[in-house]
Amino acid sequence: MNDLVIRNCLDFNQKKIDIFIRNGKIAEISERILISDIPEIDAGGHFISPPFIDSHFHMDATLSYGLPRINQSGTLLEGISLWGELKKDLTADAIKERARKLCKWSIARGTLGIRSHVDVSGDNLMAVEALLDIKEEMKDFLDIQLVAFPQDGLYRAKCLNNLKTALEMGVDVVGGIPHFERTMSDGAYSVKTLCEIAEKKGLLVDMHCDESDDPLSRHVETLANETTRLGLEGRVAGSHLTSMHSMDNYYFSKLIALLVEANLHIIPNPLINITIQGRHDTYPKRRGLTRVPEQMKAGLNVAFGHDCVMDPWYPLGSHDMLEVAHMALHVAHMTGADDMKECFKAVTTNPAKVMHLDNYGLEKGCNGDLVILQCKNPVEALRLKPPRLYVIRRGQIISSTDPVKYKINTGKEELVDLIF
Ligand code: FE2
Repeated sequence: MNDLVIRNCLDFNQKKIDIFIRNGKIAEISERILISDIPEIDAGGHFISPPFIDSHFHMDATLSYGLPRINQSGTLLEGISLWGELKKDLTADAIKERARKLCKWSIARGTLGIRSHVDVSGDNLMAVEALLDIKEEMKDFLDIQLVAFPQDGLYRAKCLNNLKTALEMGVDVVGGIPHFERTMSDGAYSVKTLCEIAEKKGLLVDMHCDESDDPLSRHVETLANETTRLGLEGRVAGSHLTSMHSMDNYYFSKLIALLVEANLHIIPNPLINITIQGRHDTYPKRRGLTRVPEQMKAGLNVAFGHDCVMDPWYPLGSHDMLEVAHMALHVAHMTGADDMKECFKAVTTNPAKVMHLDNYGLEKGCNGDLVILQCKNPVEALRLKPPRLYVIRRGQIISSTDPVKYKINTGKEELVDLIF
């Protein structure tokens, strides 16, 4: 049946609402729903949001931290070579077991949409097969979209055939990594080739692009140009784009217009970018985050990704998108009240647009997918990263927890939450 009434919640704009979900879809939102005799929950005056969405992740590598060893330098390049060492010993069962565990963490955090890159540059497509199985296995609980990702370089690792086979097997999105090809021209050529494949097959594109501190790494220019040339506007995402942090300001003023023309989706990965970029710098050390406020101001769709949880590149994380947005607003100097709300959208509605998710949102007719947080509003969600009291998928409660209250004793005992 999947019918449910949720009472007494606060929406993004602090309006007090009840929500009626019928057959897994939002049938009514109003101040007071006059329906009884179906299951209902009391949100206790807490904040309700559509689920968190992570539009950039690596599920084939997740939870492999320490295998076969730890990334000592913390650099992107040591991470890539460590992943190469690990890849040799991977089994489908191990990938699936870790991915399954990660999916459960995601559900507990209210992250119900994940775009995961999957490496196609090895000598087999075992990870692709494993993650296609996980996608199917978890489909009632979260939406997984897979990207064919030539981690070691499309031309450098000679994996164009693998990539095409992965797409035939059911991988959804065309990936790339132009800055990791042997030369700038190989990088540009890979962008052109991959965009043409996507155009022919009617697929979306999402490339790791310019994940570098080199201000002359300008593959995003080619990505935008190919997008416009092939009529792929709104269907292409540039992930990372960290070189933009270091670019010449005059060049950026030209570039931003090209990105707008291409309606390019921008996917910074704040936790990873602040960790990995600037590693070759003496002081001052660059932050390495792409130019988020400027991109948002220009009208581009910016979605923050988690990228990694406990893998060769990043030792922390629990797939909590509020951690991601919290880091982003600090690194991007977006602490203004409206800026912080935009950062919340960058882990909810914006990545849903990147992934072209149908029926996402808190409106009549949308999927009954919702998260109730132990806080009052989106900014407080960012401040507290509070417990997800209920996570609801198509009208079914798929995760829940009691509100956290601390027993404080300052002469007299009282229960305290951290709500302002
Ligand atoms: Fe990535």
